[in-house]
Amino acid sequence: MAFMFLRETIQIYRERDPAARSWLEVLLCYPGVHAVMWHRLSHWLWTHGFRLGGRFSSHIARWLTGIEIHPAARLGRRLVIDHGMGVVIGETAEIGDDCYLYHQVTLGVARTMGGKRHPTVGNNVIIGAGAKVLGPITVGDNARIGSNAVVLEPVPADTTVVGIPARPVDRKLPPAKPHFDPYGIPCDDSLDPLLRDLEGMRSELAELETRVARLASAQNGQSNGQSGAARRSAQTALTK
Ligand SMILES: CC(C)(COP(=O)(O)OP(=O)(O)OC[C@H]1O[C@@H](n2cnc3c(N)ncnc32)[C@H](O)[C@@H]1OP(=O)(O)O)[C@@H](O)C(=O)NCCC(=O)NCCS
Repeated sequence: MAFMFLRETIQIYRERDPAARSWLEVLLCYPGVHAVMWHRLSHWLWTHGFRLGGRFSSHIARWLTGIEIHPAARLGRRLVIDHGMGVVIGETAEIGDDCYLYHQVTLGVARTMGGKRHPTVGNNVIIGAGAKVLGPITVGDNARIGSNAVVLEPVPADTTVVGIPARPVDRKLPPAKPHFDPYGIPCDDSLDPLLRDLEGMRSELAELETRVARLASAQNGQSNGQSGAARRSAQTALTK
């Protein structure tokens, strides 16, 4: 069981992190993998009545990885915690399957002190570096939270929120896709900044070609001994 869990965890890092090169590299060098494996132990101890053991085991994990996960927190399958350092996941936090968290994410408390006081995160959610999600709010499936956002209100499914306090961005996300977008940046062609730049360069090139053609014809007119009108047209073409 633990082996299957480890295997699917390593597999998801390999699929989603462009920097992950081999199974061994992920196993040895990814603190997020170590943190979720330690959490399984801490959570087991906690839920079987060994509260101090659970806390102590999660404390060792924090010491080794820089990721603090309370042993009572509920984590879904295939969770990726990329880079990891500074991540804090509180006691009553819940995270669904296939979520992706970057470093310095906090799933913490806003005001409430007792009972459920940490967020519930749905499936396939991306939480950018440094984002704080605070209070017993829900984050819907496929949502994306921008880096450094401070989220205090529930986030509907398929929505991107950014800023402090976090607000939805205008653009509606395309329907959930079978593949993952690293850094939460959609690979939809119509939104690709590189394609947009290429499109801009293409129209600039077309404009330059028109100007060169105009210059060439004005030059021809001049060398054919035409009068001031052609010279004026050459000058106009040059200044346009
Ligand atoms: C939020 C995010 C997912 C949005 O990506 P996107 O869909 O490509 O959105 P865009 O870049 O087109 O931005 C949409 C708007 O939100 C703003 N925005 C994007 N990210 C933001 C952020 N983190 N904080 C504040 N505003 C942000 C943009 O300026 C833009 O505003 P505008 O509409 O006024 O121009 C992405 O910007 C992000 O933060 N990803 C997490 C990356 C990360 O943590 N990387 C760590 C790698 S180690």
